[in-house]
Amino acid sequence: MGHREFEHHEQRILEEIMRLRRDVRGNRFLNTPLEEQVLDQILHAGLLAPSVGFSQPWRIIDIRNRETKQGVAKIFAEENTEAAKQFEDQRRQQYQQLKLEGILEAPVNLAVFYQHSDEAILGQTSMPVVGEYSTVCAIQNMWLMARALNVGMGWVSILDRKKMEALLGASRHQKFVAYLCLGYVDKFYDQPELEMRGWEQRKRIEELIFRDSFSSQGSDTCT
Ligand SMILES: Cc1cc2nc3c(=O)[nH]c(=O)nc-3n(C[C@H](O)[C@H](O)[C@H](O)COP(=O)(O)O)c2cc1C
Repeated sequence: MGHREFEHHEQRILEEIMRLRRDVRGNRFLNTPLEEQVLDQILHAGLLAPSVGFSQPWRIIDIRNRETKQGVAKIFAEENTEAAKQFEDQRRQQYQQLKLEGILEAPVNLAVFYQHSDEAILGQTSMPVVGEYSTVCAIQNMWLMARALNVGMGWVSILDRKKMEALLGASRHQKFVAYLCLGYVDKFYDQPELEMRGWEQRKRIEELIFRDSFSSQGSDTCT
């Protein structure tokens, strides 16, 4: 059994990749094709993710076809029009100016599904949703590997699940989880675009991490 210990400089690299990983939208993608071997590396990183009961419940469709992308872009446009209505006044105007996807600009799109099993899965018996969490672990692995390979990735979630499942021919066991846009970029920002554009700020650690219970907030939070 191997036992590899990582060195300090390697730990720093992982931290840098996590710090500089970005959600990339259409305005940053280049037309440059993504080499198959690079995409394979990203996909394989996804397959290394942890999963409940080692169920590996993710299923991924690699989409290159322009017509399919256009179908997805149409679903996005419909949903995004509705989404804007949920914000008021100035916030709505600001929302409408944001570019929130790169479906047609990115050379590769990945549709990620959760494959539901009718059989009991070790660890998933109390909280069935952990199957979907496992799928998200695969997405995060791909996001980090993409960044390590200097490939941009954007997650598009302003999509109607049922329409996506119908468009991509999912069976009743396959639940749409995420739509990812991948490709080379003209630049990576060093902070989230939503932060740069004044939409949201990074929260402080005291707002997010608690010690022992939520009720101890204020007196004994971790710092
Ligand atoms: C579950 C999930 C769904 C997301 N959906 C969208 C989306 O539909 N459109 C978009 O522009 N960004 C989307 N994002 C990206 C976030 O806006 C982004 O992660 C956040 O602003 C922080 O920026 P960063 O990823 O560059 O650090 C999504 C991210 C996650 C984790």
